[in-house]
Amino acid sequence: MIKVGIIGCGTIGGQLIKAIKKDFKGKIKLVAVCDKNTDKAKASIRFFKTKPKILSADALIKISDLVIEAASASISASIAKKTLLAGKEAMIMSIGGLINRKDIFRLANKKKKHLYFPSGALCGLDGVKSAAAAGISTATLITKKPPRALRGAPYLIKNKIDLNSLKRQKVIFKGKAEDAIKAFPKNVNVSAIFSLAGIGGKKTIVKIICCPGAKVNSHTVVVKGDFGQLMTQTNNLPSHDNPKTSYMAILSAIATLKSITEYVRVGN
Ligand SMILES: NC(=O)c1ccc[n+]([C@@H]2O[C@H](COP(=O)([O-])OP(=O)(O)OC[C@H]3O[C@@H](n4cnc5c(N)ncnc54)[C@H](O)[C@@H]3O)[C@@H](O)[C@H]2O)c1
Repeated sequence: MIKVGIIGCGTIGGQLIKAIKKDFKGKIKLVAVCDKNTDKAKASIRFFKTKPKILSADALIKISDLVIEAASASISASIAKKTLLAGKEAMIMSIGGLINRKDIFRLANKKKKHLYFPSGALCGLDGVKSAAAAGISTATLITKKPPRALRGAPYLIKNKIDLNSLKRQKVIFKGKAEDAIKAFPKNVNVSAIFSLAGIGGKKTIVKIICCPGAKVNSHTVVVKGDFGQLMTQTNNLPSHDNPKTSYMAILSAIATLKSITEYVRVGN
């Protein structure tokens, strides 16, 4: 039994808690949850007969084998670091927080403990990883989202960009992935995972297009390299509770948990 602790009991954390209860009997035990909003933590475990503990992040790390972070990019790096230093493993959802943290990746290797980054809302990372083994010349991500999925981003506030007044689709950002992550920390985790799988945040190019009236969050990946060229497009429906989070991101976290608990791995 893997003892799991979840930090962040919102859209992703809440669905993971339900999935653990329903689909991982005998394989995973949810031992603790943590949320800065205690009511959310309480609500997320209401259907357990034997309740997991509600703890601080530090206390949760102590009693878990695997810590799942599904809270915020502002804490994901420190959670990953503390977890590894405690000799435990971590699954990180707020990937943007670790984009330039090679020190933490080195720590994982030194400690021989896994750091898991689910592919989230982006499909085609298997091909990107394979391509990177030979050499990638260009990697581009084009993300199209409706205004509600981008609202509140620091870049929009700083540049006084009013998405409500848009009548047709508009490119609102084009630049390096590492800058996209700073500009839209809650909206484009896909740029972070794409950079990690491929050629890094400095060389990966991200274009964000705001599309008024769009029903899906769409991500197109174009990669060229020694292998040839690949292009994938994913049209994601938003999750029920959070328009910024695609349903596919929740499913990918569940799939990662599955791969952790099984001995047969499919795909690279
Ligand atoms: N990897 C991906 O593909 C992907 C996709 C979508 C979202 N995300 C990221 O995953 C994270 C969770 O997404 P979500 O949709 O569940 O968000 P959410 O807002 O629905 O839930 C986040 C929860 O974390 C809690 N929280 C925030 N800061 C905290 C802190 N410092 N300590 C403890 N609890 C804290 C909040 O109270 C909330 O309950 C976000 O950072 C989001 O950007 C990643």
